[in-house]
Amino acid sequence: MLVTGGAGFIGSNFIRHILTKYPHYSIINLDKLTYAGNLENLKDFEFNPNYKFVKGDILNSELVEHIAQDVDIIVHFAAETHVDRSVLDPFSFVRTNVLGTHVLLEAARKLGNKRFHHISTDEVFGSLPLEETHRSFHEETPYDPKSPYSSSKAAADHLVRAYHHTFGLPITISNCSNNYGPYQFPEKFIPLFITNLLEEKKVPLYGDGKNVRDWIHVADHSAAVDRIIHDGRIGHTYVVGANCEKSNFEITKLIVNCLGFGEEMIEYVKDRPGHDRRYSVRPHKIQAELGWNPQMNFDDGIKKTIQWYIDNPDWWRRVKSGEYLEYYDRWYNKR
Ligand code: NAD
Ligand code: DAU
Repeated sequence: MLVTGGAGFIGSNFIRHILTKYPHYSIINLDKLTYAGNLENLKDFEFNPNYKFVKGDILNSELVEHIAQDVDIIVHFAAETHVDRSVLDPFSFVRTNVLGTHVLLEAARKLGNKRFHHISTDEVFGSLPLEETHRSFHEETPYDPKSPYSSSKAAADHLVRAYHHTFGLPITISNCSNNYGPYQFPEKFIPLFITNLLEEKKVPLYGDGKNVRDWIHVADHSAAVDRIIHDGRIGHTYVVGANCEKSNFEITKLIVNCLGFGEEMIEYVKDRPGHDRRYSVRPHKIQAELGWNPQMNFDDGIKKTIQWYIDNPDWWRRVKSGEYLEYYDRWYNKR
């Protein structure tokens, strides 16, 4: 299996899931090690004979064609993933998410139509109004991406489907909701808020704090991708989520309280430009067709996640420095 972006948050959790459940599988992890990639995420697999890391860019077609020659499947996680960064620097999102996906598709086609699974996001469907609680995203929802990030992911999804339709490439796509869990880079909402509080710093809640996200533990997302790559219908899309909508304020309060603080630690800050109001996904297809169901309830998952950050200060303190601080300076002072 060739996994792209396996040194990131979800990719590394997925590789751990696969090599634990199927120890006889072999995985090549191709990752450029951007600011978000971290080899420490898979330190325990460093010497596993069935795991090989290759540092490289998915835009390097020669490298991709070389390492993909003998694989049975490409599982494509690599991407620029932070919406706020896509506001500051849209080009890197188009480069990796659109052009990079295209390079991988071409390689898969040239190498005899390799099986290809594309990891996408529910953000391609746009934003739902808070008050229309009956509406959720599903496989037939029209695309309506709103940020440079989600637009680049939507463009990639279209290319993946075009390669299936035009060249018969055996593809599947998953559009998952917001993930949380261990090894998430602390620029994202949940790990940012946990680690800020562990440093006794305030947490920056955007706008009125009423935006809603639909949360899933990364272990449940990994299990969903596992089901799709083994039994998903070729050419099909599966929407993935755990039916767990929460407002940002609700989650903030939970984390703040769990860490022994009060609401005085919440700082309401200027909103993200174009901030999507609500995401909600209806994962009926994957449940009915593939028998997948989320196993982790949010209360347990968030407590375990908070504990993971308490137990791994070296991991997050190392990444909350250097480029990270420059990025925050740009985000808060220069936009
Ligand atoms: P992440 O930012 O933690 O990791 C991305 C990884 O991709 C990093 O290891 C990085 O080094 C690598 N990468 C970036 N550009 C690359 C390039 N040009 N060549 C090779 N490697 C490159 O991201 P994540 O949160 O783990 O997300 C993984 C995938 O899941 C993405 O495709 C994202 O769109 C999708 N997704 C994420 C979520 C979420 O909540 N985090 C939800 C749904 C879908
Ligand atoms: O829905 C899936 C998507 O979820 C993935 O495709 C993206 O890669 C992933 O980053 C995530 O996007 P979001 O924009 O929803 O995640 P983020 O963690 O950046 O923000 C979650 C919510 O928290 C969002 O409404 C914005 C808010 N927020 C975020 C940050 C970083 C704050 O209030 N303050 C913050 O400092």
